[in-house]
Amino acid sequence: MANSHPLKNMVDYLFLKYPINDLYNHDTITKEGYQENYIPDIIEGILDLDSVGVKPDVESVAEIQITTEVSDEKRVNVTLPDLPDINEYINYLEEVWDSKWLTNDGQFVQLLEKKLKEFMGLKKFLLVSNGTLALQIALKVLNIKGSVITTPFTFAATTNSLLWERLNPVFADIDPETFNIDPEDVERKITPDTTAIMAVHTYGNPCDVERIEEIAKDNDLMVIYDGAHAFNVQYKNRSIFSYGDISTLSFHATKAFHTIEGGALVTKDAEVEEKIKLIRNHGIDTSIEEVILPGTNAKMNEFQAIMGLCNLKNIDRSIQIRKFIYECYVENLQDLDVKFQKIQASQYNYAYMPVCFEDEKTRNRVELALSQMGYYPRKYFYPLTVDFEYFKSRSKDLNRRFDLKAATDVSSSVLCLPLYPTLSSADVSKIVSIIREVMT
Ligand SMILES: Cc1ncc(COP(=O)(O)O)c(C=O)c1O
Repeated sequence: MANSHPLKNMVDYLFLKYPINDLYNHDTITKEGYQENYIPDIIEGILDLDSVGVKPDVESVAEIQITTEVSDEKRVNVTLPDLPDINEYINYLEEVWDSKWLTNDGQFVQLLEKKLKEFMGLKKFLLVSNGTLALQIALKVLNIKGSVITTPFTFAATTNSLLWERLNPVFADIDPETFNIDPEDVERKITPDTTAIMAVHTYGNPCDVERIEEIAKDNDLMVIYDGAHAFNVQYKNRSIFSYGDISTLSFHATKAFHTIEGGALVTKDAEVEEKIKLIRNHGIDTSIEEVILPGTNAKMNEFQAIMGLCNLKNIDRSIQIRKFIYECYVENLQDLDVKFQKIQASQYNYAYMPVCFEDEKTRNRVELALSQMGYYPRKYFYPLTVDFEYFKSRSKDLNRRFDLKAATDVSSSVLCLPLYPTLSSADVSKIVSIIREVMT
């Protein structure tokens, strides 16, 4: 389906001709110049190429129309995994083959652990096979019992990990601006049965860690942060993972940094660190080769680790491109009736592009219009985990629909737009124009 407006096609052509990163590095186009001169022109449909110093190699408008056509088979998902140069991965694979050591704390898992510690400035950082097991291990190691106050605006794994550990999730509402758990509601929901807070740095946006710490201290509660989305995020120039008793990460293929499947736990406590090491490996104390506690199998393997080593080399560039695309979306959509997440990070990773529309109906209309053109944003996180059918069928006490107005509003109006480093600028431009067409 070709875009019918020739000037808009011109814009698309330019995007195709100069992929976002080239534009960014183009002699005459600085990032600021691109945003100031170019983006408003997309909105207006008027593009003065000379003003931004670009002379696209265009022979005719017909050629432009052909190049901007979106084929019916095209499908742009909300994300695509970062993949390194395959030869780089193969080089590591050959080393794994030679060593014949595939898992069980192999050389590449150890190397990745060391490099990630250095990269994020963390001392006690332990790799595991996925982010869900990281959460379950955190609950186990801290010996959490009874009720845990958590957010319903999250991926299923946060709530499910509590159910797996036979804990009682109690839901607090979120802040309508940051989309993170509201500490004041956490405080209101504390009962004698409460032992911990499990908060999520939603889309990588830091929680109000200072207020949560204060509440936890006053009420003698443990704090676990689900930082599945928060790779390399900092709050007040300090790693977000340095807060709480344990923080967890996910390195699933959909994440800003991934190891295909993978995860990690971060703690400040040496005893907790030792216990995590035991639990992730069946409870085996390798110094005496004896099983000393009931652990699980949460070991990362060498194939996951080498993907991480490859991806880590490209992570700075990858996040830089994400930032650029994120800013393009904001710049192009901010005059509409939409809400963006209020980012609290001093260093952010731009893992997601959540946009809240004025209501559920508009959100659904936008989603439909995009999907009809081959673009598949996601309703992350909808429904709230408290509204999962299996949750509703639990005991009467757990069946309460907590007062969750902000979470309900955000969940029913949010859409995460496609955002990943290889997303073409032509696609960003098209997504923007489709949304603008629905909204105006
Ligand atoms: C908020 C949150 N917590 C936990 C997880 C679980 O991580 P994993 O998929 O690595 O098990 C995810 C995964 O997407 C997530 O989004």
